[in-house]
Amino acid sequence: MGKPRVFVSREIFSDAIEMIQAEADTELWQDELPPPRDILLEKVKGVDGLLCLLTDKVDAELMDTAGSQLKVISQIAVGYDNIDVASATKRGIPIGNTPEVLTQTTADATWALLMAAARRIGEGERAVRSGKWRTWHPLHYLGQDVYGSKLGIVGLGRIGLEVAKRGFGFDMEVMYSDIVRREDLEAQYPLRYVDMDTLLRESDFVSLHAVLDESTYHLIDEEALAKMKPTAVLVNASRGPVVDRKALYQALRDGGIAAAGLDVTEPEPIPMDDPLLTLENCVIVPHIGSASVATRREMSRIAAQNLINGLKGERLLTCVNPEVYNG
Ligand code: GLV
Repeated sequence: MGKPRVFVSREIFSDAIEMIQAEADTELWQDELPPPRDILLEKVKGVDGLLCLLTDKVDAELMDTAGSQLKVISQIAVGYDNIDVASATKRGIPIGNTPEVLTQTTADATWALLMAAARRIGEGERAVRSGKWRTWHPLHYLGQDVYGSKLGIVGLGRIGLEVAKRGFGFDMEVMYSDIVRREDLEAQYPLRYVDMDTLLRESDFVSLHAVLDESTYHLIDEEALAKMKPTAVLVNASRGPVVDRKALYQALRDGGIAAAGLDVTEPEPIPMDDPLLTLENCVIVPHIGSASVATRREMSRIAAQNLINGLKGERLLTCVNPEVYNG
């Protein structure tokens, strides 16, 4: 019997690729950009396993095109809103993701954005580089204090909790809102559970860590932004569509809120003519939450191992639809 066939939709760490090649006949997409839809569909035909990224739409059409031999979908990311989980589950296909390993790295990145937006780091750097900065001035480049302020976490999952814990080091009062109250965590940390309305009205920093689904699409819209303090800072390291970017532009432009730090946008990359890019009080980085060398290496390894386990019919290390094992 020949080796199983897999398609890997982007380059990952080479030791992870070698792990896969040892087990499977591997086709690797080496372009910097994602495979266009028609090519992705062509490439998955007849494969036993797919290692994919959040930029690949993995839906029922793709699974059908791949064929009934498809045994595993391994995503190199913690989020998987690009994958139709129900369709995979219906077909008995386990989906792997890469949680845990990126939690601390993403919480660090969230804080980098929070601080950069609060203290106008992007704007200041641009001013220095362009020669616009001419002297120390008592009234220039004034931002918002972080230390001792109020932090609101939307979605107290793994990353949200780690962002909150960093806040305690800055003597922040931390509140959170979520669909489930985490009394277990409240027993360990000084976290206040509030409704979304209270969180938006009281927080100096609102940090988004909610999963993207129908209930969180444009969660931060014009109405939500209007509830925030004019001195507040919004940080989004979850998914772009959680924020209505047109409403955000207006709030930032008109002084509805002070600043925003975005690791994610809708769409990605943000179009170059998007008005958000004209604002000095909006820090935007290219979806780099988990982008440290060590973390991306480990994500590569876990994604490779999930793919291999799936090919062998073994349980994935991290599976988002473990119900496939109950059938
Ligand atoms: C990145 O956004 C991820 O979900 O891992």
